[in-house]
Amino acid sequence: MTSRALTVPAVALGTWAWGDSGEAGDGYFGSRLSDSGLREVVERAQANGFTLWDTAVAYGMGRSESVLAQALSGRHRSEYQLSTKFTPQLAGDGDDPVADMLEQSLDRLRTDCVDLFWIHNPADVARWTPPLIPLLESGRIKHVGVSNHNLEEIALADRILGEAGFRVEAVQNHYSLLYRGSERAGILDHCREHGVRFFSYMVLEQGALTGRYSPANPLPEGSSRAAVYNGVLPRLTALTDRMEVIGKDRGVSAAEVAVAWAVAKGTTPIIGVTKAAHVDGVVRARGIELADEEIAELEALADATDVDTRGWWEQEMMRR
Ligand SMILES: NC(=O)c1ccc[n+]([C@@H]2O[C@H](COP(=O)([O-])OP(=O)(O)OC[C@H]3O[C@@H](n4cnc5c(N)ncnc54)[C@H](OP(=O)(O)O)[C@@H]3O)[C@@H](O)[C@H]2O)c1
Repeated sequence: MTSRALTVPAVALGTWAWGDSGEAGDGYFGSRLSDSGLREVVERAQANGFTLWDTAVAYGMGRSESVLAQALSGRHRSEYQLSTKFTPQLAGDGDDPVADMLEQSLDRLRTDCVDLFWIHNPADVARWTPPLIPLLESGRIKHVGVSNHNLEEIALADRILGEAGFRVEAVQNHYSLLYRGSERAGILDHCREHGVRFFSYMVLEQGALTGRYSPANPLPEGSSRAAVYNGVLPRLTALTDRMEVIGKDRGVSAAEVAVAWAVAKGTTPIIGVTKAAHVDGVVRARGIELADEEIAELEALADATDVDTRGWWEQEMMRR
């Protein structure tokens, strides 16, 4: 049985961008990151109670996990929680690819257990869920979540774990003002009704919803996120301008309005912070509340953009 309930901060922090090499224009994000800068991010976050770190072997093929461990080094393991993933597409051909990938992650993360372990995507739920059971029993993983799974797949994974006395305790899907597939498909309601925590990722659409990037100041040239978002930035201006105005009244930025929106919707955002100042923004976002009319207005403006930001790795979430 799961030993204790999953307890997490109001906002989790994501480290996909930390898997880039650190050279501008190189990699998925194209941001220039340094070990000392990321250590500062960790210090600021930990000091403010943001102690859950999300990573995956897939982020820079282990680089994100290694860089995160380095930035956390020197801290007592009880001060932070680690969330990492089994990515079926990267499975090896040993007897137990799930346990093997976990062991490699534990090595890179310099620890002996993961607090929250995810199946990264639903390649074959009946195949990849059962190997989690012995890992839960041994305490190598404390809690299990599924990512990018639809309602049927969430239910199937939960049934498989339930036979051994465990459960799916968390769901991690793309959820932003611009991409509300999980809400339309009933996954948010399902999570609320079943006491499953819903983690929303890409709440800032990789920078496109921060208000910092615009047609005049596009995402870093040569990066993968630039290829995805730069073409649609002109269609986002009405939305990000309004987010800025709503934020201004409360002394916060458009990005912080996006984070507050995701919290107001009952989700736990995973924010991909790359600078210590971003953590300050998350602190401010935690302190504000949006009115129902503001939420409705932002969602209407988001719908009017008519952009589809579904990631290449995601399936369409359909209502049953
Ligand atoms: N399970 C999955 O399949 C999956 C998929 C995607 C993401 N995720 C998880 O979710 C996390 C978040 O997604 P993401 O990192 O792709 O994108 P995101 O959180 O939507 O955006 C991250 C980018 O926004 C900017 N930013 C971050 N915090 C900010 C703040 N407070 N104020 C202003 N700008 C800010 C940074 O850009 P600059 O560096 O340019 O400033 C950063 O690279 C990932 O790191 C990962 O842990 C999971």
